Amino acid sequence: MAAERELRPCTLVIFGATGDLTKRKLVPGLYSLAQEQLLPKNFAVIGFARRDKTHDVFRQEMRQAVQEFARYPLDDTLWETFASRLYYHRSTFDDAMGYQRLQEFLHEVSARHETQDRVIYYLSTPPEAYNDIVHHLHAAGLAAPPGPQRSWPRVVVEKPFGHDLETARALNLHFRSAFDEGRIYRIDHYLGKETVQNIMVLRFANGIFEPLWNQKYIDHVQITVAETLGVEDRGGYYDTAGALRDMMQNHLLQLLALTAMEPPGSLRADAIRNEKMKVLETVHPLLGADIDRYAVRGQYGPGRIGEREFVAYRQEPRVKPDSTTETFVALRFTLDNWRWAGVPFYLRSGKCLPNRISEIAIQFRQVPQILFRAAAQTGIEPNVLVLRIQPDEGASLTMASKTPGLQGDLQTVEMDFHYGTSFGGSSPEAYERLLYDVMLGDQTLFMRADEVEAAWGLVTPLLEHWEAHKVEALPTYAAGTWGPQAAEALLAADGYRWRRP
Ligand code: BG6
Repeated sequence: MAAERELRPCTLVIFGATGDLTKRKLVPGLYSLAQEQLLPKNFAVIGFARRDKTHDVFRQEMRQAVQEFARYPLDDTLWETFASRLYYHRSTFDDAMGYQRLQEFLHEVSARHETQDRVIYYLSTPPEAYNDIVHHLHAAGLAAPPGPQRSWPRVVVEKPFGHDLETARALNLHFRSAFDEGRIYRIDHYLGKETVQNIMVLRFANGIFEPLWNQKYIDHVQITVAETLGVEDRGGYYDTAGALRDMMQNHLLQLLALTAMEPPGSLRADAIRNEKMKVLETVHPLLGADIDRYAVRGQYGPGRIGEREFVAYRQEPRVKPDSTTETFVALRFTLDNWRWAGVPFYLRSGKCLPNRISEIAIQFRQVPQILFRAAAQTGIEPNVLVLRIQPDEGASLTMASKTPGLQGDLQTVEMDFHYGTSFGGSSPEAYERLLYDVMLGDQTLFMRADEVEAAWGLVTPLLEHWEAHKVEALPTYAAGTWGPQAAEALLAADGYRWRRP
């Protein structure tokens, strides 16, 4: 495995350099790292893409991207230095000659910027291009370690990683035919978020939570990743994916794993990934009739969120007019281990929901009501610990309190921690953290091959079941509401309600 944690000179090659991710996240993220002096002193970036353009045009475009999307205002002097390390390389992804030329260009750039032949390849392309890129890097000898540097070159790959279990396995094999696992960095950008990293800190650096973190004291868990946006201009991709593939297989299952895992033996990448992996292995798979019982999907219909009107999903650009792709999914999982036996984990994610909010809500068990039954007019609510992933990052804990007065009732009050007020300033963007970690050679926040496959292993039976039991149309929910009726019924069957954050 890549054991070093040191910023070494390197060149970053971004495949798909004219795409949205490069413009919105990668180059602005690199610029913010430059601003914080967290880039290696000897460093260069090569944008690799199909369109014809000069280095200067690429630099101009990236300047605008930084102006628009970076966390820091553009500083002319810093930009000049940064831009002098930016290059553009034109080639299609399937042209062997383009990789030959890349090899020569890499030598040239390495000599000029003293990056010592260390390279990171970042695949920010449509997934259809992954096979070609890996194949050609391998064939051109560009994937082989330069001399004794066994943890280089590194390859970073965006999601979606595969379309189901079989394709994910094939892709893993293909990547590993060129790079060993210790050099493959599979992105799940949720892991780059500060608040997601804080889940472990909150659980294991505080004495008061871990002793209660089990089926004896926790009643159930709700994990929500809700978006107010629709599919926007990504209808072409999204209609072949859907919420289960797009969000559940990766982001929500990762949140589940971090919430439910055992304390790792150390902070080494593999110690943590082993524990997450064990959680994914202990999730009780939904199969056959359980799928109809515990998996709910829906599709947004027309509606309004704030000032914005939404058309039905089926009317969105590049979406099939008879599409049965889900834009909302809710699942009920249980975990087959001693810590969590009998505790339901409810996961939901959807587009066009009323609020943009990602959170993990841990509901503790109800207390016996005997003492306060008379005083508590509304009943005593169970304690809920909410880890707010975004926006308004923080955590809160509800508790019962006596209301002041001689005839005091009981009321639920909240202890609340906000990142903004406690720490001020802005947190690094997920991609800054992830880019920095790739340069350091730290794989903790990246998904290992077995994790990706285990996650696909959990969602693939659902995909197959839905494929085998085709419907004319999915239940719809009006844009701006919390998903289809069946999502409410999923919790109501257990006597619960979804939180309305
Ligand atoms: C991406 C999905 O992985 O995550 C998108 O492909 C989704 O559909 C996005 O909008 C949400 O990310 P964030 O960071 O805005 O919550």
